[in-house]
Amino acid sequence: MPTTRAARAAAALLASSSPAAAAAAASAPALAATALLALAGPAAAAVVELTWSIGWVDNINPDGLAPRRVIGVNGKWPIDPIVATLGDTLVIHATNKLDVDTALHAHGLYQNGTTYYDGAAGITECGIAPGSTFTYNIPIQQTGTYWLHGHRYGQYVDGLRTPLILRPQNQTRLKFDDEIVLSLSDWYHQEHKPLNDFFLSIFNPTGKEPIPDSGLINHSANTVVKVQPNKTYLVRVVTMSALAMFNFYIEGHDLTVVEVDGEDVEPFPAASVPIAAAQRYAFLFTAKNTTDFNYRIHADMDMSMFDSPPASLNPFVNATLQYSPTAPMFAAPADQAPDPTAFDQTQLVPVTPIAPYSNDQSVRYDTVFQLFDDGANHGAFNETIFRFGDVPPVLTAMTMGNLATDPRAYSPFNQVVVTEHLKGIEIILNNMDAGKHPFHLHGHKFQVVAMGSGVYDPVAGAANITALKNPVRRDTIVVPTRGYAVLRFYADNPGVWFFHCHIEWHLEAGLASLFVEAPLEMQRKIKVPNSINEQCLLLGKKVSGNAMGYNDTTTFPGLSMSRVYPTGFGAKGIVALIGCIISALVGLGTVVWYARADTTPGKPASR
Ligand code: C2O
Repeated sequence: MPTTRAARAAAALLASSSPAAAAAAASAPALAATALLALAGPAAAAVVELTWSIGWVDNINPDGLAPRRVIGVNGKWPIDPIVATLGDTLVIHATNKLDVDTALHAHGLYQNGTTYYDGAAGITECGIAPGSTFTYNIPIQQTGTYWLHGHRYGQYVDGLRTPLILRPQNQTRLKFDDEIVLSLSDWYHQEHKPLNDFFLSIFNPTGKEPIPDSGLINHSANTVVKVQPNKTYLVRVVTMSALAMFNFYIEGHDLTVVEVDGEDVEPFPAASVPIAAAQRYAFLFTAKNTTDFNYRIHADMDMSMFDSPPASLNPFVNATLQYSPTAPMFAAPADQAPDPTAFDQTQLVPVTPIAPYSNDQSVRYDTVFQLFDDGANHGAFNETIFRFGDVPPVLTAMTMGNLATDPRAYSPFNQVVVTEHLKGIEIILNNMDAGKHPFHLHGHKFQVVAMGSGVYDPVAGAANITALKNPVRRDTIVVPTRGYAVLRFYADNPGVWFFHCHIEWHLEAGLASLFVEAPLEMQRKIKVPNSINEQCLLLGKKVSGNAMGYNDTTTFPGLSMSRVYPTGFGAKGIVALIGCIISALVGLGTVVWYARADTTPGKPASR
């Protein structure tokens, strides 16, 4: 008989007393939580059942600087963290109260056997139509720190995001007294859509990403985390940002990394850890033996991610580690901030050793940002912008018989890789761009088998990879500026898996590709629920055939190749031209502004 563990989410956060956590804790009847914990034996698989109405919530002001509407759940924001246990099923009844479609993705979950519940709109489903309800039934097949976020139109940037904590049935590996969950996020005072429209317009030819207005820890600029002397804490850190990358540390406290992107690793001491969008770490730390001071928790923003940030942007994102409400704040010498580059994630050693997977199929993606023929600057893999068709790839794979093994079926204009079942797949990522990119693969943890600067040399690199015993495994990897990373994963999870940059602006720009894993195996073993088809039809999409609904690999009306801007009129020329247009518009705007200026004293003009 399934029991519900919904109350555990709140219980998990009692250690932390940010406004968000306090609200979560307050909403959970303490008695019920205790009773449930007693009832649920270690191996009893439960159903964690959530009923979510997804919609705008007005007048939310997490950084205290500017109220705005955000996307929340059941009229509330922030959204309560979700907690489940290995073997459970996470059931989310999601009602879409937005006026556009939505989708919920459990980031990092394997979804082995349920690729259609992966929640990547346009890939594993069409989206949830406005006004309708769709139910996700997600099997919990792993443990660790994850998050759940909107996977449509950058909705997570507007607030549709929350940590997802997956516990083992018995916690035997780690010894700690209590658990703390911290989300790191960036915050924009403007909504995602206007920011994105400008980002991908001809008025932004250099592709400058929108810069956040602030950074938040647990959705607040003033989070307080209460701790008790001498206790050991497991702190789970989830970065849920659109763009920002954070350097995480706690003044005066040593951190020991014990988990990376949900993968258990041997204890590894670190003064600080850089955490990019969508990455997670769990640390152990032991509290001091006195309550003399409180300490700052830092999630300092890496300003190199931002293209000319305004002076008003505060990179020092803090929360308080509170031993006593009356204790003074510990004042660390200013020059003692740990160096984020000292941390080398390739040193992490998974607790379960796996030698490098074989290289049965290798794919190479070169990332460049360029002007395309739509006049906008796009990030692209191999000069290809990812575009969605009318049929989500999951349904193309299921309905096209043998043709489903032909990558062109999923759109010949996208980067698509079809793999066989139970093969080792290698992804070579060459980043030709001056920025760092956190790339994420759905449905898997990959091994990070090589990393460096310049362009990867597969011949020289192969021997080094063979020598590895147990490379780190994770689901999101930062590829350095003008450098490379080489990943390997094992194709033991038939399904369609999105691979993309987790800077949300870059995903919107098309920096994505698709792995169609073992489509014939999918056809044999997977049964897509009818609710997926119903939503596609509600949204006016199609439910069978190639990306445009035809039963061949050549007919794609409405889809075409995006082309890099014609040579002969290069990026510099475009920049100059657009510059002229912008200054003309600014000039015109200034005339209008002068004409309409409000001259009331003490009030800014034109407001
Ligand atoms: Cu966090 Cu495509 O996902």
